[in-house]
Amino acid sequence: MNLSVIGQFPAYRPRRLRQSAALRQLVAETRLNVSQLVLPLFARSGKKVCRPIAAMPGVFQFSPDELLRETIRAHTLGVPAVLLFGIPDRKDTKASGAFAKNGIVQQTVRLLKKELPSLLVITDVCLCEYMEHGHCGVVQGGKILNDPSLKLLARAAASHAEAGADIVAPSDMMDGRVRAIRTELDRTGFADTPIMSYAAKFASAFYGPFREAAESAPKFGDRRSYQMNPANANEALREVALDIQEGADIVMVKPALACLDLIYRVKTEFGYPTAAYAVSGEHAMIKAAAANGWIDERAVTLESLLAMRRAGADILITYAAADAARWLKAG
Ligand code: PBG
Repeated sequence: MNLSVIGQFPAYRPRRLRQSAALRQLVAETRLNVSQLVLPLFARSGKKVCRPIAAMPGVFQFSPDELLRETIRAHTLGVPAVLLFGIPDRKDTKASGAFAKNGIVQQTVRLLKKELPSLLVITDVCLCEYMEHGHCGVVQGGKILNDPSLKLLARAAASHAEAGADIVAPSDMMDGRVRAIRTELDRTGFADTPIMSYAAKFASAFYGPFREAAESAPKFGDRRSYQMNPANANEALREVALDIQEGADIVMVKPALACLDLIYRVKTEFGYPTAAYAVSGEHAMIKAAAANGWIDERAVTLESLLAMRRAGADILITYAAADAARWLKAG
């Protein structure tokens, strides 16, 4: 910024443009719009099932019929997209449920696409919910194996596309998964299905509540041998570059509020469509403080989402998507 061409007091008075709501809106540099929101949802089998998640008030595990009802509510408010996670009836060591033709995600995708053709259905592609051990890849001798996991991930992504998913979103952090998925999608007739990769995904304590929601906590160890060390920013840029080279159409940074620097750098360096995921722990913190009357839930939620936009995010994945849509409508 060239400071010599910027006005000086008293000629320049920044407060002139802050005098009314209309003036402030007129010169707002960043805007929140409902078209940028994605609502994550958890599907499990059954009918009329709405199981609350203790640490995520307002978030439930839904059977497909209830998930459809919740989606209609959000979509009617203007939320254009959902991100689906599945909780299978049975877990094993091959993650069979992840690519079963009639798996819980595949069924739910078909239902949503039939009932709501204008809805964008994004599916999370991972193995942890479907594995007995809760890790995102194949385990042998206490190690999480990279290359054998790729085949399973690719199969899962292709089965989601086959069921009608509009976008597949791999979140496992195995090396080479985007290329494996792109190749399999192209081979099976889904060259037009975009990939949104969880490109810079950190091994974050902010995912705690999610693991209850998705029943995906690892049974031994942790995810630090595949998810990134939160200390590393240059490595995050390399991860994003790799995913773009392998065929990612949209790249994601996760978590969001703890990584605003990376959202900014990823958008600035690559200029690709960039998503920010306001994860379960971020949601839980806002909900808990609001429930205590310590913060204003609406104002804090909207300000957080605005900060992600200001940092450079185009797409905001948030458990508060329906609430935010309602608040934005009310003005
Ligand atoms: C699956 C996955 C996780 C999240 C999204 N996909 C959990 C994890 O990596 O442990 C976290 C989302 C959230 O916390 O809201 N691998």
